[in-house]
Amino acid sequence: MRSASEASAVETAAEPAIRVEHVSVTYRTSIEKNPTLKTTLMRLGRGERLVSEIKALRDVSFEVPHGTVLGIVGANGAGKSTLMRTIAGILPPTEGRVEVHGRVSTLLALGVGFNRNLSGRENVILGGLAAGLDRDHLEEKYDEIVEFAELEEFMDLPMRAYSSGMYGRLAFSVAVHMDPDILLIDEALSVGDARFRRKSFAKMRELCEQARTILIVSHALGSIRELCDQAVWMHKGTMKLWDAPDAVIDAYTEFLGVREAVIDKEDV
Ligand SMILES: Nc1ncnc2c1ncn2[C@@H]1O[C@H](COP(=O)(O)OP(=O)(O)OP(=O)(O)O)[C@@H](O)[C@H]1O
Ligand SMILES: [Mg+2]
Repeated sequence: MRSASEASAVETAAEPAIRVEHVSVTYRTSIEKNPTLKTTLMRLGRGERLVSEIKALRDVSFEVPHGTVLGIVGANGAGKSTLMRTIAGILPPTEGRVEVHGRVSTLLALGVGFNRNLSGRENVILGGLAAGLDRDHLEEKYDEIVEFAELEEFMDLPMRAYSSGMYGRLAFSVAVHMDPDILLIDEALSVGDARFRRKSFAKMRELCEQARTILIVSHALGSIRELCDQAVWMHKGTMKLWDAPDAVIDAYTEFLGVREAVIDKEDV
């Protein structure tokens, strides 16, 4: 007979890295119907608000096994970033549940980010501590992060003084150097100038080969084809297709009615 600890070890090995179960997300936003200055002022005066609901995810379920590099494609507003935010734990699902097994590092276009009033150095240190790195590990990582981002002279400036490319480079560098078990990347494959983009793509390829679990949301379909071993097509808050990247991207580009060659120009 197996002991309890052996049994749980076996169970852990069989656990997927990410389990999404019947997840729905509904955003509630206040809106104004046919607003005029008068009605707006009257409603504000009465404290009235009309609320509109947007169902961004509708009963989405899937599992991502450890070591899978999953690409997520879909039109604007399909729910990709919402899905990434729920998996990252930033946005609780309205219904359903998300289980994540492993240390997560995120690089999301919206949502978490640096505090622009703090210096690059302070942001990197806070990011490292938040990711659970201890002091020694953090010191070692700090140098790697700064070297990769090539921002040595800028680390003591507040980040509001960074250009958007510099901001993106530091964010990318932090996310990929945290040794995450699970890395979530939303639209952040192509930060920086052409040279940095090549470098970050090479880094991504290296991470993808290291049996980590990685989720990449991107409109750069060539990169999804090249980096991922599975892909999912999100459509109006539901999962339309889950298959090999080639099959998913072919179906998606056919649906869009665009030639991929046009899109590929945007790729790294
Ligand atoms: N904070 C928010 N408040 C209200 N509605 C939101 C919010 N964020 C997203 N939505 C809505 O949820 C839906 C899904 O948005 P989401 O950002 O997840 O799409 P996406 O697939 O990431 O699109 P894109 O390719 O443009 O990044 C959209 O209809 C959007 O209008
Ligand atoms: Mg998005």
